[in-house]
This record gives sequence, structure tokens and C-alpha cells, in this order.
Amino acid sequence: MSETLTNFVNASYVVSGLLFILALAGLSKFETSKRGNAFGIVGMVIAVVATIVWLTKLPDYRPSALVLLLVPMIIGGAIGVWKAVKVEMTGMPELIAQLHSFVGLAAVLIGFAAFMEDGSAATAFQLSEIWIGIFIGALTFTGSLVAWGKLSGKIASKPLTLPGRNWINLGLVVGIIACGIWFSNVSGAIAWLPLVLLTLMSLFLGFHLVAAIGGADMPVVISMLNSYSGWAAAFSGFSLGIPVLIVTGALVGFSGAILSYIMCKAMNRSFISVILGGFGDAPAVRGDGPAGEITEIKADELASQLADASKVIIAPGYGMAVAQAQYPVAELAKRLRDQGVDVTFAIHPVAGRLPGHMNVLLAEAHVPYDIVLEMDEINDDFADADVVLVIGANDTVNPAAMEPGTPISGMPVLHVWEGKEVVVFKRSMKPGYAGVENPLFFMDRTRMLFGDAKASVDAINAALPAPALTK
Ligand code: TAP
Repeated sequence: MSETLTNFVNASYVVSGLLFILALAGLSKFETSKRGNAFGIVGMVIAVVATIVWLTKLPDYRPSALVLLLVPMIIGGAIGVWKAVKVEMTGMPELIAQLHSFVGLAAVLIGFAAFMEDGSAATAFQLSEIWIGIFIGALTFTGSLVAWGKLSGKIASKPLTLPGRNWINLGLVVGIIACGIWFSNVSGAIAWLPLVLLTLMSLFLGFHLVAAIGGADMPVVISMLNSYSGWAAAFSGFSLGIPVLIVTGALVGFSGAILSYIMCKAMNRSFISVILGGFGDAPAVRGDGPAGEITEIKADELASQLADASKVIIAPGYGMAVAQAQYPVAELAKRLRDQGVDVTFAIHPVAGRLPGHMNVLLAEAHVPYDIVLEMDEINDDFADADVVLVIGANDTVNPAAMEPGTPISGMPVLHVWEGKEVVVFKRSMKPGYAGVENPLFFMDRTRMLFGDAKASVDAINAALPAPALTK
């Protein structure tokens, strides 16, 4: 390859890497997220084009290589576009888990291909890159498949608690490292034995780590697998000698790890326990029927209470996303604000099914950013609220989290029950994602408004006194 071409390819990789950093920076705020996305797309196009150019100029290049590259890219790209267009917002975590599993599988296949191609001439260091890439890839692959199964309800979200679980994990890690060292220090066909053994152990470890984690803690698992998929990609970059893959993988690896750390803090979980697997494994406390009296309220009665209120706080959750109720909720907030009511939104860090889920939905419905407050900013304000509307939230407003012995124990929650009146919008008495019965429903100041959240909020909007009661 000529020096000019090498410089062109390397410069393109540097530009791609910078664009990926700008993409991450842009995605950290709603106002700049579209721009961040655009940076990411442009960076990826530059990286792909530069890699294709590099491939076609290799001394042993054959046109069949280009066909082998482009055909799967076109098929994969078409499936990706179809999936992305079709996916509902509520299905995003499942799609993300699937995509992570592909990254893991790709890392395993790349590792095997690199060993088949250059294994005999590789140094112990290069062989170490290969087995570490395969190890992280295999772990990410099965871990992501289990996460996808749990999130989509295809696998019970209950944690799998095998006896001696931590010893099994420790034994697997020791076995994998031992096989890795063996693999890096032998030559010839025998090297396949430790490689296959460590791949099988890594596949089982990924399955076991995630299967041992309870449903309520899946958000942290998803961001952790995101990080693992980044590291798997980075090691593939080492195996293939493609710097931009190393840079991209490291960016994803670090940003996923930072996100996991932030989410662990938000959920009051230990970061180390997440990496080791098997937390959130307290037994789910499913309701055996109502644990007290509940009081219902109808939409028209609530509408007049809201019109008389001075301060209203809305705590949205997964149910608002399912019902696509963000538009009528935004309209309700606007109409109340126009009438002089102080309306704010209380956002729990893991409300919904993906980080920032509620913020995205509310932004989509044009709710002003300045009335959307994070849990820490608003948790002391509930006592001043005349009415708190809990719209499709459950685990994130469950006071049981403040008691020991449940899968959500220790997770900070929104103190909605401190409001003068709390109205919970849901369709039934079923528990939330973590399967923990919610004592909030049975409290004196709580009213239940049963039905689909969108239909209920539409009914309130219809019943709200039309002329403004300006306060
Ligand atoms: P959840 O605890 O999941 O509860 C959602 C509530 O919405 C349910 O009680 C459900 O009750 C109600 N609901 C469902 N469809 C509805 C509809 N059409 N209309 C009205 N209500 C409806 O919600 P949450 O408080 O947002 O908590 C999120 C949970 O998901 C946490 O446990 C969290 O750890 C977990 N999780 C979060 C993430 C991220 S990153 N955010 C990812 C994975 C898991 P009914 O069925 O009775 O209507």
C-alpha cells in the first residue's frame, strides 16, 4: 500500500474517532442528541469507507473479498433498518440486548478467524489478544441472549440461584485464564483444545452471570453488557489490526462502564456485585391479593381536584410508555400550567425500560425541560404537592424499597406518598417489573384510577373545566 494511501486511511480513522467522541458528547443532552447521532453516523460511514479502501489495496486482495464484505453488510444493514423502524420505544432494551449479542458473537468469530489465519505465526502476546477477545465476546453473547430473554419475558425474570454460585463463577474464571495461558504458549493443532474449552466456559459464564440477576436490576445489566460489547469490539480491533475498531470499542467500553456506575449509584447497588453477577436476588414478594383497602377515584372527580390544586407533581413510569400517554399527559400539564397550577415531573433514573426513557417520551411530547426534574431534585417537594399523579409507575414509587427483604430493597424511590393526595394510574392491582407488591396502593391518601393510562388522562382532559381558573 502506498504511503499516501496509508496516511489517508489513518487520517480517516482519526477523524472517525473524533466524530465518535463528539457523538457521545452530543448524546449526553437532549438538546444536542440529534446532532450527536449525526456525528456518529458520519464517523461510521468514514470508518467503513476507509476500511474498504484499505482492504482493496492489500497486496493479496482478491475481488471475492469485497463481495464477501459487501453482501453481508447490505443484508445486515437492511435487517438493522427494518428492526429500527419497527421497534417500539418499550422494546428498545430488548433490541439493544440483541445487538450486544451480535457484537459478542462477531468478536468470537473474529478471534477464531484470526487464529485460523495467522495462529501459527502469532506471538504469545497476539494469541493473548485473541483469547481475551473470544472470552469477552462469548460472555457478552450468552449474557446478552439471557438479558434479551428476561426483558422480553421469554425467560422468567427470577434470578437463577445455583448452589455455590460464586464458587462456580470463580472456578470458571480460573479455568478460562488457565486455558488462555495454555493456549498462548502452545503451538499446533493442540492449541484448539484450550481455545474451545475456554470458549465453552466463557459461554456458560455469560449465561450464569446474567441468569443470576433479578429482573429489577436488568437496567444495570444492560449497560454492563454494553460495556462488555465495547471491550469485545476493541479486542477484535487488536486481532484485525484496525485502530478505529480499538478506539470505538474502548469508547463504548468506557462509556458503558461509566453508565453502569452511575446506574449502580442511582439504584444503590454495588458495582462489584454487578460485575460478579447475582445481585437483586432477594425473593420477589408477589401479591397474594390485596393487603388492605383501596380507594378508587374517577376521572371527572380528579379533574376538578386538579383544577383546584396549586401544585401538582407527575411521576411517570413504564405504563405511560406502554399506553403512549405522553401526549395527553403533556396536554394535561400545559392546561394546568395555563390555569396557574405549578406542574412538575419527577423522573426516577430507572423509570421505564431504558436510561432516560421518560425524558425522551416527555421531550417527544414537547414538555418543557425545565419542569422535568430528576429524583434528587424533587424528592423533598412531594410534601408540598396537593396532588401527585403516578402514571404507570410502580417499582420506582414503591415504599417497600425502603424496607429490607425485597428485590428492590435499598433502591432509592420517589417519595410520592408524601403528597397530600396520590393518584395511581394503572389497569389492575398487579405488581411492577420487580414483582414486589406496592403498599402505596393501600395508603390512606392514595386513590386508584384504573384503566389504560392514555384513556384515563384523555378522560381527565375532557373533564377539566374549560375556562381557565387563573390562580
Ligand atoms: P414498573 O414497575 O415496570 O410498573 C409499570 C406499571 O405500569 C405496572 O404497575 C403496570 O400495572 C402499569 N401499566 C402497564 N401498562 C399500562 C397501561 N397501558 N396503562 C396504565 N398502566 C399501565 O414501572 P417503573 O416504575 O417505571 O419501574 C421500572 C422498572 O423496570 C424497575 O423495576 C426497573 O429496574 C426496571 N427496568 C428498568 C430499565 C431502565 S434502564 N429504565 C430497564 C429494564 C428494567 P398494570 O399492569 O396493572 O396496568
